[in-house]
Formats: sequence, structure tokens, C-alpha cells
Amino acid sequence: MLHRVIYASEAVGATGASTLSIAQILGVSERNNRRDHVTGCLMFHEGHILQALEGARGDLDRLMRRILTDPRHTGVRILSDMPVAARLLPEPMGICGDPAALLERIGLPCISRLTAAEAEALLSIRKAA
Ligand SMILES: Cc1cc2nc3c(=O)[nH]c(=O)nc-3n(C[C@H](O)[C@H](O)[C@H](O)COP(=O)(O)O)c2cc1C
Repeated sequence: MLHRVIYASEAVGATGASTLSIAQILGVSERNNRRDHVTGCLMFHEGHILQALEGARGDLDRLMRRILTDPRHTGVRILSDMPVAARLLPEPMGICGDPAALLERIGLPCISRLTAAEAEALLSIRKAA
């Protein structure tokens, strides 16, 4: 059974602000997620992080345990965690290229206080784009 987890967190240090910090996360994520049949998408916006992940329960739980203890971010809040019929995310790890534009489309200035419904809406818009 496929599940989707969406969480928000706060970047620590240069995480998300430098190309190198993003490349380091994407490189490892691409490799591991491909191996574990996990797909995902990552967004950095003004020090806030939003990530959606899709995969089998066990694989997602193992991944979330690694993510929760990663010192490159803090304050991880699970916004949504539920079984889904199909994937919205096609790639092992995508990056949202224009977070400000995407947020504007659902009328939000920032991802820091996103609700589960707003996070799901962001994903649907991204898929449609
Ligand atoms: C914001 C953020 C998102 C991450 N996303 C993933 C991910 O989707 N997949 C993954 O394997 N690691 C991800 N990581 C890295 C993990 O926390 C961890 O460092 C990594 O999985 C360890 O992999 P390794 O055991 O192969 O070295 C992420 C880290 C951060 C800070």
C-alpha cells in the first residue's frame, strides 16, 4: 500500500540557501529513494522546508527516521501522513524551482504555517503545472 507523508521543517545554517547544500541532499536522496521506490519533492523557501514523500510504509518510516535526526534542519512537523491510491510525484526527488510562484497560487505568503489541506493543494497544483 502506497503512503504519502508531507512534513515542514526549518533549515539550519546554509541548508537550502547554497547550491552545494541542496546538491548534497538531492544527490543522496536520488540514490536512496530510487533504491527504495520512494518518490519525493522538496521545496526551500526563506529558511523553511517542505517535503512530500511517497512510498511503502516501511520505506517511508525508515526514511523519516533518518530525516528526523538530520542536523541540517530542525522542528520537523508532519503535516499529513495517509494512504494514497496513486503517486502525485513521479521522480525519486524533485525540487520545486519557483516556490514563491507556487505559494502565490494558493494565496499563501510562506510555508511556515501550512495546513495539511494547503500542502496537498500545493502538490496538486505542481502536478498540474
Ligand atoms: C530537508 C532534507 C530532506 C532529505 N530528504 C531525503 C530523502 O528524500 N531521501 C534520503 O535518502 N535522504 C534524505 N535526506 C538525507 C537524510 O537525512 C540522510 O542524511 C540520508 O538519507 C543518509 O543516507 P545514507 O545513509 O545513504 O548516507 C534529507 C535531508 C534533509 C535535510
